[in-house]
Amino acid sequence: MEKKSQERERFSTGLAVFFATLSSAVGLGNIWKFPYLTGNYGGGAFLLIYFICIVLVALPVMISEMYIGRKTRKNPIGAIAAIKSRGPWKIIGYMGILSAFFILFFYSSVAGWVYSYIFKALSGTFANSSYKELDNIFNKTASSPVAPIIWQFVAIIVVASILVLGVKKGIERMTKVLMPVLLILIIICDIRALTLPGAMQGVAFIFKVDFSSITKEVILMALGLSFFKLSLGMGTIITYGSYFTSDNNMIATAGKVAVSDTIVSLLAGIAIFPAVFSFGMTPQQGPGLLFKTIPLVFSKVPFGGVLIVLFFVLSAIAATTAMLSMLEVVVTYFVEEKKVSRRKAVLLCSTIVLVIGTFVTMSQNGANPVSKIKPFGLSLFDFFDQASSNVLLPLGGLLIALFAGYVIDKKDMKTELSNYGELKNKKLIRIYTFLVRYITPVLLFIVFMSMIGVWG
Ligand code: TRP
Repeated sequence: MEKKSQERERFSTGLAVFFATLSSAVGLGNIWKFPYLTGNYGGGAFLLIYFICIVLVALPVMISEMYIGRKTRKNPIGAIAAIKSRGPWKIIGYMGILSAFFILFFYSSVAGWVYSYIFKALSGTFANSSYKELDNIFNKTASSPVAPIIWQFVAIIVVASILVLGVKKGIERMTKVLMPVLLILIIICDIRALTLPGAMQGVAFIFKVDFSSITKEVILMALGLSFFKLSLGMGTIITYGSYFTSDNNMIATAGKVAVSDTIVSLLAGIAIFPAVFSFGMTPQQGPGLLFKTIPLVFSKVPFGGVLIVLFFVLSAIAATTAMLSMLEVVVTYFVEEKKVSRRKAVLLCSTIVLVIGTFVTMSQNGANPVSKIKPFGLSLFDFFDQASSNVLLPLGGLLIALFAGYVIDKKDMKTELSNYGELKNKKLIRIYTFLVRYITPVLLFIVFMSMIGVWG
């Protein structure tokens, strides 16, 4: 038994645990999705709901996932089965696989846009571009018939190659150095954006709460984003938890990851919204927001032409490591549970992402018949995005919270979260237990019910 658990890889130190978890959390979610949803759904009010979702819903789910993974040291499906082999709980793992695919279908498309922006920046396409021109450039990037599909292929092939060549470790080591550089670039943008004329309007937009703009949809979107942001509800954090060191303080790690991730998102927002107002745009730009504003900000920064290349290179790397953490979950499932070779599993999974992902990208082109396919009235892109963030991930989160709160033995949970009594964190464990049993599942349930219209 002892020997077996030693064979499994582990992160070496507490710091490695923190950085690895953070590298899954930080991705396009921070620089692309967070700002555009904040813009679309009312700024400060959306942000307030997002914070509440992080504390009351996402954090308890994150701690539960870490604990389930570390206790069992298995992939999500194996982990759940190891704790409770009977009952419907295994569905958590299967839903997780579906979510991973759904997210990859559109995430790879956005990653493709980012890759293509590296080359646009290199060739000086953005130099002195006005907002109107940037709007055109983005629309072409997303909806040309062929180019975005090629870029999406590039993004997927990069991820698949990293998984096949097994250079993932090296990539992760590199990311640890590169992500702080991305943060510095965002902070440079922040400083420039905050000194633009009319910048304060943008700051007010993010931080001023207009309670009247809080609607059911705003709550649903903020909830979905909190799951998407922290990579929750599909087993990624169960998988990472299975590599945690035994002496890791999981409640503290979860807290630190959530706070750091939120800081990155806020800094991205502060780089973008002052520019939005300063250049006379509206915040409701949708998925193009990042791509239309960041080039404008850099055009006003010394050496901006070089820095913007670096910005998109680092964003592409962040997108790539986040995609790795998703594809890894499905690949590990096929390898461990279906006994497929790693190479075959990678080939199979990336082909699925490639084929359906292509349709998702084509759905962005109004002239393409694929854009007429509208499940639930949504484009394929929006469908996979919303079905994962707003349905599958929170549903997975609900099941994980119920599993942690009611199926796992309470004493076991306390032992694990206090590292066999070594940590003096009784109070925090009590708060976590209360949240995961009575608050998290109830809130998730209410949001679901209201979504399907039961309570209007
Ligand atoms: N959190 C990442 C981001 O913000 C995306 C991501 C990576 C993810 N792994 C995940 C989302 C697992 C949900 C589940 O970009």
